[in-house]
Amino acid sequence: MLTAADTPFSFILFGASGHLATIKIYPALYVLALKKRLPKDYVIVGYARTEMDDMAFRKMVEESVRKDMSEVNEKVLTDLLKHMHYVHGQYMEAKDFTALAKALEQWEKGGSWVRLAYLSIPPTVFTAVFQNLCKAGIHNKKNLFRCIVEKPVGHDLGSFEEIRHQLTDCFDEKEIFLLDHYLGKEAVRNIYYLRASNPVLERVFKNTLIHHVEVTASEPAGIAGRAGYYEHTGAFRDMFQSHLLEMCSLLTMRQIEEGESFRESRQNALEQFYLPPAGDLDEIVLQGQYEGYEKEEGIAKGSKTNTYATLKLLSRSSRWQGVPFYLRSGKKLAKKETRISIQFQPPSVIWKGSTPNRLDIILQGEAGMRLHLQTKIGGSEPEFRPLIMEDPLVCLGDCLPEHGLLLLEAIDGRQQWFLRFNEVQASWRLLDPIQAHLDRPDTHLYRYKPGSKGPMEAEGWIARDATRWLS
Ligand SMILES: NC(=O)c1ccc[n+]([C@@H]2O[C@H](COP(=O)([O-])OP(=O)(O)OC[C@H]3O[C@@H](n4cnc5c(N)ncnc54)[C@H](OP(=O)(O)O)[C@@H]3O)[C@@H](O)[C@H]2O)c1
Repeated sequence: MLTAADTPFSFILFGASGHLATIKIYPALYVLALKKRLPKDYVIVGYARTEMDDMAFRKMVEESVRKDMSEVNEKVLTDLLKHMHYVHGQYMEAKDFTALAKALEQWEKGGSWVRLAYLSIPPTVFTAVFQNLCKAGIHNKKNLFRCIVEKPVGHDLGSFEEIRHQLTDCFDEKEIFLLDHYLGKEAVRNIYYLRASNPVLERVFKNTLIHHVEVTASEPAGIAGRAGYYEHTGAFRDMFQSHLLEMCSLLTMRQIEEGESFRESRQNALEQFYLPPAGDLDEIVLQGQYEGYEKEEGIAKGSKTNTYATLKLLSRSSRWQGVPFYLRSGKKLAKKETRISIQFQPPSVIWKGSTPNRLDIILQGEAGMRLHLQTKIGGSEPEFRPLIMEDPLVCLGDCLPEHGLLLLEAIDGRQQWFLRFNEVQASWRLLDPIQAHLDRPDTHLYRYKPGSKGPMEAEGWIARDATRWLS
């Protein structure tokens, strides 16, 4: 079991007043405290421009924890809050970071604690924070240091390269932790281990047996008051470049042998994906927007932002060559579900009632694993009904919220489930031409009804490959 029990640390959360901090990070810290995964000596420092003192900050954290948890252990929460402090400051002001450095020295009582700077702020202020961390000596030779940057790293290849340059100017690569919270989900990690631990699956996961793969991430929620972020991002940039491609990499990566790098294998798998040759990019991508999006608070009338997208990819890896991967994601859809479905080739004789075998790995929603087989029904003629073998795939054992697990791993210096620069680079490189196509004023943006499966046109789009969506 990974604990931070022996490692005193200071966790500095930039953007402590924000959405991510409130909905994810504070509840995750509470769970770590509840499960006794935090050491005796640690300090959590909220840093932001919003005026607050320690008391107001603790109140905010408390409310976020109570909102998230159905039941709260009062003693654990009170103790956690005692470790929390707030520093009010600007991201651009070196003197505010000098004050932060002094406060840290005081709280750390002169010891050499691990320092973690978590950037839960918009990328526009990243550079200032990197530089000020170094100038103020918060990053120094005495303390082990981790700089944690949330996905997406940049908004295209160019801006990613800029952030990479700024990060590596200030920090060593082993101090940089690029975080995609999907990689903190047990069910997502299981995509790799499922194959690695089940040779039977490993044997059937190959192009001669697989017809296609569908990767779907759908949610009934809309933009949840995040118009400022979403309007400049959209479904395609928000979901495909990070979460969906990472899931594809975990599914297709080569199993590592002892001594090999897990991240390198994951990166190699990602680099194998390519856009299928097409006369027109509309053949490989389609975008949509739910009806009423323009009326959401903070969204301009006539907005062209996609809230739904679907993309076809192929892989060059010999095992997956020729297998189409259909990725799709959207908001205000009928179902909350994150699912990988592997559809196998149909049998050579199609009996009455039979359908092709399929394996569903469902990571969110009604999570579980489902293997679709067929079984004969009674009668002298061969006629079949579906036989579905399923398991709820809930996390058993040492289960932590994704940000909690990733934070413990960062404290410990483990980078396996954080992204490499080259992975992020490969995904922007792959998807930039598609994003440019979607951004063109003449690219279709199909409307769909909230609560539906997405644009009707997405049905015809996949039907051109004699395939249909699996739900
Ligand atoms: N929210 C999510 O679910 C989510 C998911 C994945 C990744 N992320 C990434 O995580 C980071 C934080 O996301 P978030 O949703 O928490 O963002 P947010 O709420 O919009 O912003 C976080 C904090 O940053 C400060 N801030 C906002 N706009 C600013 C600006 N223009 N200039 C300087 N400071 C500004 C604000 O704090 P003060 O004004 O008090 O300083 C705000 O409370 C972003 O990089 C985002 O892309 C978020």
